[in-house]
Amino acid sequence: MLRVGINGYGTIGKRVADAVAAQPDMEVAGVAKTRPNFEAELAVERDYPLYAAIEERAERFADAGLELAGMVEDLVEESDVVVDATPGGIGEQNKPMYEAYDTPALFQGGESADFVDASFNARANFEASVGADYVRVVSCNTTGLSRLVAPLQEHYDVQKVRATLVRRGGDPAQTGRGPINDIVPNPISLPSHHGPDVNTIFPDLAIDTLGLKVPATLMHMHSVNVTLGDEPTAEEVRAVLEAETRIKVIREEEGIDGAGKLKELAQDVGRPRADLWENCVWGESITVEENANAGVDLYLFQAIHQESDVVPENVDAIRAVAELADAEESVRLTNDALGLGF
Ligand SMILES: NC(=O)c1ccc[n+]([C@@H]2O[C@H](COP(=O)([O-])OP(=O)(O)OC[C@H]3O[C@@H](n4cnc5c(N)ncnc54)[C@H](OP(=O)(O)O)[C@@H]3O)[C@@H](O)[C@H]2O)c1
Repeated sequence: MLRVGINGYGTIGKRVADAVAAQPDMEVAGVAKTRPNFEAELAVERDYPLYAAIEERAERFADAGLELAGMVEDLVEESDVVVDATPGGIGEQNKPMYEAYDTPALFQGGESADFVDASFNARANFEASVGADYVRVVSCNTTGLSRLVAPLQEHYDVQKVRATLVRRGGDPAQTGRGPINDIVPNPISLPSHHGPDVNTIFPDLAIDTLGLKVPATLMHMHSVNVTLGDEPTAEEVRAVLEAETRIKVIREEEGIDGAGKLKELAQDVGRPRADLWENCVWGESITVEENANAGVDLYLFQAIHQESDVVPENVDAIRAVAELADAEESVRLTNDALGLGF
């Protein structure tokens, strides 16, 4: 069993820990936190050894009645791979610690792409991270766009992607985020940074993205336009997307009219934390319009659950770094262990 340490046990870290624990070929070596809150208590309840991320604060865990297994350096030393899920920017500061213990590490989308060996998406570029030491699992939005672009590129001549990202203002637990009552172009200047981030996965892809933030916590919504050089029908494109294991094409009969009902579905089927690991593409929205220059413009809406779509990707990235499986086998193992697919 591969031993995986999780440094940073928040929104992403706690989900990755549970996903690792569900796999047949890896186990949680422990999780590191800076303070003893409810998440620390629940980590102990789940039998994840708890480590202190900041030495000066270690006493607080004892004061709260929580037994520590050690300091984060101990966790890094005894892990085969570390998943760093600390807030954006802290991962880069942690890299020297991983280097000191010669422990490969995964970072998250809030980190710069400049200090890692590769950026990762299981569907698009698994191979680039095989045996690498430092890998960044790209952000929730970039993951969602990459899962869509990869099959389109395999089937069609993708000439240009334009995507408008209507982003949730904050996650449900992020009490300090907003906007509370506004619709904010973010960033106001165009195109947004998301397109260049997708280029860390597809270096040659022509893509422009625009971003907004809205008063919602549930999911992001992407309005996507892809110019194709060939002329598939909407039904053909739909069939291509339906064949993807990490894309749910929402059927008309399901009566799902927005992110709220998607989350309701996730709760009703008993998904942990009401997580939606898949891109959720509205089947009815898949439309092709003739393009005056040749080919067609493809349009669709997809919802992306920001808190969880990167979770199966982290599991696959662990296997890539540790050379445990190839892309196909890893995705199958991860999907089976988590229960992807509606
Ligand atoms: N949330 C999303 O929508 C989302 C989606 C995709 C990717 N990401 C990326 O994933 C990364 C983590 O984001 P998140 O949303 O999970 O953040 P988060 O909910 O704030 O969790 C990060 C956790 O790290 C802990 N932490 C803070 N400083 C630390 C340190 N020095 N060492 C160890 N742990 C520390 C904090 O817990 P304590 O202080 O309580 O220990 C916090 O709970 C970021 O790069 C982010 O951009 C986030």
